[in-house]
Amino acid sequence: MSIEFLLNGEVINVSDTAPTRTLLDYLRETRGLTGTKEGCNEGDCGACTVMVSDNSSHRAMNACILFLPQLHGKSVRTVEGVAAGDAPHPVQVSMVEKHGSQCGFCTPGFVMSMTAAHANDATDHDTQLAGNLCRCTGYAPIIRAAVAAEKTTKPDWLGEDTGALAALKAQAIHPQSSDELAAWYSANPEGTLIGGATDVGLWVTKKLAALDKVCFIAQIEDMRRIEHSDAGLRIGASVTLTELREAVTPIYPDFAEMLRRFASTQIRNAATIGGNIANGSPIGDGPPALIALGAKLTLRKGDTRREILLQDYFVAYGKQDRTAGEFVESIFIPAQKDRLKCYKLTKRFDQDISAVLGCFNIHIEGGKVACCTIAYGGMAATPKRATQVEAALLGKPWTKETVSAALPLFTQDFTPMSDMRASKEYRLKAAQNMLQRYFLEDTQNAPRVLGEAP
Ligand SMILES: Cc1cc2nc3c(=O)[nH]c(=O)nc-3n(C[C@H](O)[C@H](O)[C@H](O)COP(=O)(O)OP(=O)(O)OC[C@H]3O[C@@H](n4cnc5c(N)ncnc54)[C@H](O)[C@@H]3O)c2cc1C
Ligand code: FES
Ligand code: FES
Repeated sequence: MSIEFLLNGEVINVSDTAPTRTLLDYLRETRGLTGTKEGCNEGDCGACTVMVSDNSSHRAMNACILFLPQLHGKSVRTVEGVAAGDAPHPVQVSMVEKHGSQCGFCTPGFVMSMTAAHANDATDHDTQLAGNLCRCTGYAPIIRAAVAAEKTTKPDWLGEDTGALAALKAQAIHPQSSDELAAWYSANPEGTLIGGATDVGLWVTKKLAALDKVCFIAQIEDMRRIEHSDAGLRIGASVTLTELREAVTPIYPDFAEMLRRFASTQIRNAATIGGNIANGSPIGDGPPALIALGAKLTLRKGDTRREILLQDYFVAYGKQDRTAGEFVESIFIPAQKDRLKCYKLTKRFDQDISAVLGCFNIHIEGGKVACCTIAYGGMAATPKRATQVEAALLGKPWTKETVSAALPLFTQDFTPMSDMRASKEYRLKAAQNMLQRYFLEDTQNAPRVLGEAP
């Protein structure tokens, strides 16, 4: 089928192209739109940022790891397409006025992140721009430019793109439903599923993998739903990290805050929670939080579904409890008695992979630990619960002595490794300190049982 999308307002049809052709290559090599830069080619630097819109959203995304089929039925604006005739976009004006550009290599990417933020009336500029690196470190004038552009008039093309998208009536891309996906994957178990392509994209751009049989699943409507009920929250596997963050903000604010530090705005706009779980990474941020919340996975193969606890999905490094042709359909988080607390430890605050991630779901009743689930990432070959530590806490008074007595148990739960992110000794110490920090924050700032000494 041909891929149809709007590029700077113009209807584009692309056919006879590899499904893994990136938007960045297409823009630069085929369209001659070289304003979109190639920096890292792996989603890290933001120099390739474009704005991708559908009927309901405007999202900054990394063109270097966006495959063309992911744009079907959408609208793309590049830095060449944000001015209205001779009138620059308000963020371009403020970048000039506030001296936001120095060498300029990163500038188109910043302008596009700022354009998307402007379209969404977003004012959390640190978060919006965390995925854009400026090697000249000219961040202060760039942030001043973003602030200056707040509340300025939106360009007319924004509304025109929405109208043109409605008229586009692009032919549906398949699979359209989880039933169709189940049928395709059963028939093609050797094929590769692609959610947001924030992992798979790097197989192509960095490892030069040739993936001939692929299936794009981010557009599958029934896997993009988030359903709230008294029993809990059901999240479709194709829900993006941006959508998940919005959904958990009122219920699990600390989970949402941790997700704010998951990669960058651009990556979260593409990455799906299904991909974050399915890839089985020991340092993925979603799984420890979801394990601490007692989440269950629905795995599906053909018409057969099975439900397993997420903690049981991770069998060993690189090995998950998922058979050929089976996929993650949804994730269920049971309603909680208590809040979840997450500590993400990284070398750099924003846009960095966790060295250690500790997630705590501890319920205190009558001054004692009534329920306790603690899960870590970065401490073992898989995301893993601290079961010995949990056992040492359970039923005991919620006191400093109980916590101190549990700390040595970390060496029974975990044998972390040393790598470029942290040494094994550092990881162990950090994990222990997270439990102590949790205890101090819990007892000193928000006593569970009023009037009772911790
Ligand atoms: C710059 C950068 C920063 C990052 N930072 C972080 C970070 O801070 N924290 C973090 O946890 N991760 C991070 N990641 C990793 C990545 O973004 C996440 O793991 C993401 O959630 C993957 O989701 P995706 O939809 O893009 O997966 P894809 O790349 O589409 O797929 C990943 C794998 O999962 C499989 N798959 C996808 N969906 C399903 C499904 N429903 N069922 C079965 N298999 C499926 C694919 O076949 C593939 O094997 C980062 C990546 C980049 C490039
Ligand atoms: S080129 Fe660096 S994020 Fe795309
Ligand atoms: S102005 Fe951003 S890298 Fe120089």
